[in-house]
Amino acid sequence: MRIDILTVFPEMIEGFFNCSILARAQKAGLAEIHLHNIRDYTTDKHHKTDDYPFGGCAGLVMKIEPIDRCISTLKAERSYDEIVYTSPDGEKFDQKKANSMSMLGNIIILCGHYKGIDYRIREHLITREISIGDYVLTGGEIAAAVMADSIVRLIPGVLSDEQSALSDSFQDNLLAPPIYTRPAEYNGWKVPEILLSGNQSKISDWELRQSLERTLRLRPDLIS
Ligand code: ADE
Repeated sequence: MRIDILTVFPEMIEGFFNCSILARAQKAGLAEIHLHNIRDYTTDKHHKTDDYPFGGCAGLVMKIEPIDRCISTLKAERSYDEIVYTSPDGEKFDQKKANSMSMLGNIIILCGHYKGIDYRIREHLITREISIGDYVLTGGEIAAAVMADSIVRLIPGVLSDEQSALSDSFQDNLLAPPIYTRPAEYNGWKVPEILLSGNQSKISDWELRQSLERTLRLRPDLIS
C-alpha cells in the first residue's frame, strides 16, 4: 500500500514514520509512505501556499494551485483509490474505517491548515473527508499520522503473530482484556490466578468476560 501525505509542514510528522512498526513495514516493502511539501508545488517567487479569504473574514486559506499541481503530479504517476482531506467536519475515523482502508492500494491524505483549504478542492478533488475526533487541531498532520498508523499496522504481514491486530480493542467492538507480564507478584500486587493456570480454554473464557465487563463499564455505547 502507498500513502502520499500532502502538507505545508512535513517536518511535523517526518520522524513519526521512521520509528517502530511503521519503519519496519516500509523496510519490508509492505507500505510506502511519502511526504510531499505543498510549498514545492507553488509557482510564484514567494512560494505562497495561503491567501486571505474572499468575503473579508479573518484568517488564511490554503490556495488551490499548489495543491492541485501536487495532486495532478501524483495522479499522473498512478491511480488513487481515495483522496482524503483531514478535517474536523469530516466523517469520524474508527477501527472499521482503518480496516477497510488497509485494503486499498494507493491513497492521498491532504492535511488542512490555517482556516482550511479553498472549498473548490473539496468539491472537485477530494473523495473523502475524515475527522479523527470532535476537537480542532492546529492542522491535519497529526490526524494524517494517526490514520496512516492505524491503517498500516492492519496490512497483512506488518504485525507479527504475537502482536496480532485481532486482539486489539475495538477490533470486535470490545475493549481488550487486561494483560500482564512477569513478575507474577510485585509489591503484593498479583496477576489473576487463572492466567497462570495453563488452561487455555478457561483463560480465553476469562478474557472474553473481562472484555465484556470492561466494555460495559467503560464504553457501553460499543455494545448497543
Ligand atoms: N484538522 C483539525 N482538526 C482535525 C480533526 N479533529 N480531525 C482531522 N483533521 C483535523
